[in-house]
Amino acid sequence: MAAKRKALVLGGFTGLAATAQADVLEEAGWAIRRLGRSDLDFQAANAFGKLEKLLDALEPDLLVNGAAYTQVDAAEDNPDAADFLNRAVPAALGRMVKSRPSCILLHYSSDFVFSGKKRSPYTTDDPTGPLNVYGKSKAAGEEALLSLGLANCLVVRTAWLFGPGRGNFVTTMLDLCRKNSSINVVHDQTGSPTYTEDLARCCLKLVEAEAHGLFHVVDAGEATWCELADEAVRLARLECIIRPVTSAEFPRRAARPTYSVLDCSSFERVTGSKPRPWPQALRDYIYKNTAPGGDEPDGKRDADEA
Ligand SMILES: NC(=O)c1ccc[n+]([C@@H]2O[C@H](COP(=O)([O-])OP(=O)(O)OC[C@H]3O[C@@H](n4cnc5c(N)ncnc54)[C@H](OP(=O)(O)O)[C@@H]3O)[C@@H](O)[C@H]2O)c1
Repeated sequence: MAAKRKALVLGGFTGLAATAQADVLEEAGWAIRRLGRSDLDFQAANAFGKLEKLLDALEPDLLVNGAAYTQVDAAEDNPDAADFLNRAVPAALGRMVKSRPSCILLHYSSDFVFSGKKRSPYTTDDPTGPLNVYGKSKAAGEEALLSLGLANCLVVRTAWLFGPGRGNFVTTMLDLCRKNSSINVVHDQTGSPTYTEDLARCCLKLVEAEAHGLFHVVDAGEATWCELADEAVRLARLECIIRPVTSAEFPRRAARPTYSVLDCSSFERVTGSKPRPWPQALRDYIYKNTAPGGDEPDGKRDADEA
């Protein structure tokens, strides 16, 4: 029998993307080692040395970087922390896999690297132009990795994640709708809602295709935050009116792109498969994971990028 392939998953206990990635890999027969912040805090002294030792001991086939600074508004006041987690850490991981070519690095990036000035889906060839500190740190992280020109590194931009575990935009909206008869939701930002399980399955396809470089992976279609909330509330059969408002009526610390839909054609070319439409994925997520009248743990978290 062939030996199980091994993956080391950073953020694998609590991260929205990382937990789904670890679950999907496990289901596909991989041996998974999850690392949380208590096992390896990147802010701690010699975190990189500790990780190098783990890589030497475990010799994983895949290193998943699900650790990141994801608080978009807080990043405006903490640019150094965002830069460290989102640029310096992936750059160090890139150097680590450069000397370990049998280990693939899977790193996630974000639609927030774009300015939002386009009105058709962003491709991997479009120039970046982030509007906020978080987006700048994510763009710097992907640049640091891609400039190494590694054949064992995947940089996957994704967006507007919902999924089990940590609270996210969808759980926040459902929670608000259980407590209120109407809520206001921004209707002038359009993006690509994406189920973490779909992201994880697509990333596994990229790994299996031995792909490297930059890819976009999001569920198909597009929505405004208001449309996403409306569909979630309909599927959860809650009685709540969703009122569309402009971002000007709902000011946030960090500016957001008004349009950040991602084009997945490079992913589709390499894997021969297409992500499913987001409303189908949302239905799956809501039916499987959110109990009527209940909520997921930590549903209070303000969603990243919402
Ligand atoms: N969520 C989205 O909508 C979205 C959209 C586009 C792109 N992305 C990208 O997808 C990736 C994953 O995002 P996510 O939403 O899954 O993130 P998340 O749920 O906020 O998880 C981030 C993970 O990083 C860990 N972490 C934070 N600081 C750390 C440190 N100093 N040392 C070690 N671990 C640390 C966190 O641990 P704790 O739980 O202990 O804090 C957590 O496990 C990121 O690269 C993000 O930029 C996300």
